[in-house]
Amino acid sequence: MPDAAAESSAPLCVDDVLDVTIGQIAHGGHFIAHANGRTIFVRHAIAGELARIKITEVRSKIVRADAVEILDPSPDRVSPPCAFAGPQLCGGCDFQHISVGRQRALKQQVVADAFRRHARLVDIGIPVVPIAGDDDGLHWRTRVRWAIDRQGRAGFHAYRSSTVLPVDKCIIATAGQGVVPTTNYLGCQEVRSAEGSDGEVVVAATGTARSSGQRITQLVLGRSWQIGLASFWQAHRGAPETLVRAVLAAGDPRIGETWWDLYSGVGLFSAYLAAAVGPAGALVAVEGDSRSVRDARRNLRQETNIELVEGQVGNWLGSAHGSGHVDGIVLDPPRTGAGPAIVAQIAARKPRVVVYVACDPVALARDVEAFATNGYRFAGATGFDTFPMTHHVELVATLVPIDAADQIS
Ligand SMILES: C[S@@+](CC[C@H](N)C(=O)[O-])C[C@H]1O[C@@H](n2cnc3c(N)ncnc32)[C@H](O)[C@@H]1O
Repeated sequence: MPDAAAESSAPLCVDDVLDVTIGQIAHGGHFIAHANGRTIFVRHAIAGELARIKITEVRSKIVRADAVEILDPSPDRVSPPCAFAGPQLCGGCDFQHISVGRQRALKQQVVADAFRRHARLVDIGIPVVPIAGDDDGLHWRTRVRWAIDRQGRAGFHAYRSSTVLPVDKCIIATAGQGVVPTTNYLGCQEVRSAEGSDGEVVVAATGTARSSGQRITQLVLGRSWQIGLASFWQAHRGAPETLVRAVLAAGDPRIGETWWDLYSGVGLFSAYLAAAVGPAGALVAVEGDSRSVRDARRNLRQETNIELVEGQVGNWLGSAHGSGHVDGIVLDPPRTGAGPAIVAQIAARKPRVVVYVACDPVALARDVEAFATNGYRFAGATGFDTFPMTHHVELVATLVPIDAADQIS
């Protein structure tokens, strides 16, 4: 019984099985439970369930477990649409057992918790909304990295493991990439696949001659992009258009303004920002990955008001060029966030608005707090469910100078 487990003080060991009441969600796709004086991070459960859990890892600071049997299920529990989802199976999707609506509600809760804990902002009501047209959370992923086992079969790593679980399909990937798990890649360690808006699929296996240089075509708001497999590109088929629209709405770029697109990848946001500021305006894109910059040069060569900089954002902000006047900044750093030093450098340039695109709510909330100490206040955010069936969420947040609160509606 859960109460007995909670009252015991015996140390927990790997493979112990106990019954617990599942508590609230935590960042990272786990739910919190308590037993034997320890806090346990449980996968494959839902808040409010009574579950039989099996301990998978015990460390001084963290105990992990899988829910292996559900004794009292949540009304939001569904039969996982993927046959490879579950304890000790594919480590890719955390939420296959949860209705899509509840998945979004849980992500919303994680975002709210992150802002309360790390940005000291409460009741700010950040919604997590679906990508238009994505009703079931399946077949959205336009690019996939597959692990290859010793027999050459494609699959995915089990959770926190190097073990490869071969699969015969991945139902969050777009249908065209189904060719990968039906092909043998003996001798390869990894395969990357991507499907373009035109349905063309490219596949590159490590160690093969054709592993670089292949591109797919992506259409975004009437513009055609040629993207290499190694360059960053938003994974959900609807994410590029949704995020571009969100960035433009949040930043409201105006004719003649100067904008910076920091961590710009292949220049997705740069293209539409540059169009919005027009020939009298200017856009500087800063990206550290040379392959992405090469794709940006190819895709943006017609634009006369875009400058592409290959380099580290911190170095560039510290240079003379990165010290000039700027009206608006888009900031889309990797999962770890921008960090306080970059935030301070950005705030020192005094843009009228910063649009922060984030894939980690905790990193975003920490940086929002750093912006607050540098004179910028949080003016709103929207979460987008660009990673259904997983705990991940993408956020677009707006920050404005504290003394100019009325400049952004
Ligand atoms: C989340 S992606 C965003 C890309 C682009 N905004 C988009 O949506 O397509 C982050 C990008 O930052 C780049 N990056 C990571 N650290 C960097 C750094 N210190 N300086 C410059 N670019 C960096 C990565 O190569 C990657 O392309």
